[in-house]
Amino acid sequence: MESKIILVTGASDGIGKETAKTLAKQGHTLIIHGRNPKKTKTAFEEIKSESGSNNIDMFLADFLSLADVKRFAEEIKKKYDRLDVLLNNAGAQFTDTRELTAEGHEKTMVINVLSPFLLTTLLLDTLKKSKSARVVTVASAAHAMGGKPDLIDIELENSYTMPRAYGLSKLYIIWVMRHFVLEAKKQGIQNVTFNSTHPGSVKSSLGRDAMKSWKYKIIYTIWGALMSNSMEAGIKGSIMGATSPELEGVSNLYLGPKGKEKANDKYYSPENEQIIWDYCLKATEDYR
Ligand SMILES: NC(=O)c1ccc[n+]([C@@H]2O[C@H](COP(=O)([O-])OP(=O)(O)OC[C@H]3O[C@@H](n4cnc5c(N)ncnc54)[C@H](OP(=O)(O)O)[C@@H]3O)[C@@H](O)[C@H]2O)c1
Repeated sequence: MESKIILVTGASDGIGKETAKTLAKQGHTLIIHGRNPKKTKTAFEEIKSESGSNNIDMFLADFLSLADVKRFAEEIKKKYDRLDVLLNNAGAQFTDTRELTAEGHEKTMVINVLSPFLLTTLLLDTLKKSKSARVVTVASAAHAMGGKPDLIDIELENSYTMPRAYGLSKLYIIWVMRHFVLEAKKQGIQNVTFNSTHPGSVKSSLGRDAMKSWKYKIIYTIWGALMSNSMEAGIKGSIMGATSPELEGVSNLYLGPKGKEKANDKYYSPENEQIIWDYCLKATEDYR
């Protein structure tokens, strides 16, 4: 397999860290991202020692800040002439209290939708320089569980709950990845593909904020005991999306533990996809 330069966001923990380890073992150059300096450095050392690879680099950025996403993209562009794979893995869920970032957006929508949208947009030129580049974004089976989208209240001022925000954010990022395919075509970009993945249910640090409440502690404990799959199964979609030769040049997939799967399209329409795309453009206009 040809060696690729792969950026994995959210590689300081959970699925991102294990994905980065597997990709480093395959001989690829890994750029790992985290937000916490100490934790990311520890993950960096662990990935290095377990993979036996020295081709690993490390960057920090807080994806709850669009300004920091922009700074991060600029650092990557300064250091790397090309990128072969952008793996948008960083993600989070919060609590039943709706919270805004310092820049004024609902937190779940920022980390799960606006940040991967912005990072992908800002790194598109660097991806274009690859012979054949891939953008792979980790969504979730929860994309089918957020209820009916309210596209005039995308940041959920009126109907926020944690599961609704998380589910809808993952639905929207699937639509955003699909729209990147159209956008790339419009721009005459033929060498970058866009796909989404989901890991099933994997024991990780996800939900650490929600778990502070007893309600979610109980729900997650039961869910975890009944539903968890292995980490190996959880990273399968990301690994396939990033490196599988059979997916060369292929976009619009939803990959998971079972390989090629099908996203839930109950609320999908090209018009709805366009609304979410326009929302991302507007919300990030000061940072592009
Ligand atoms: N675990 C599951 O069952 C499951 C199911 C469906 C989808 N997913 C998705 O899989 C992806 C990975 O999640 P995971 O389960 O591995 O969770 P995790 O263990 O919590 O890891 C999440 C990663 O994202 C980083 N991150 C969180 N907030 C960030 C911020 N504000 N700025 C920058 N980085 C931030 C974390 O950094 P820190 O180490 O500093 O926290 C960590 O590296 C997420 O997109 C998640 O939504 C997970």
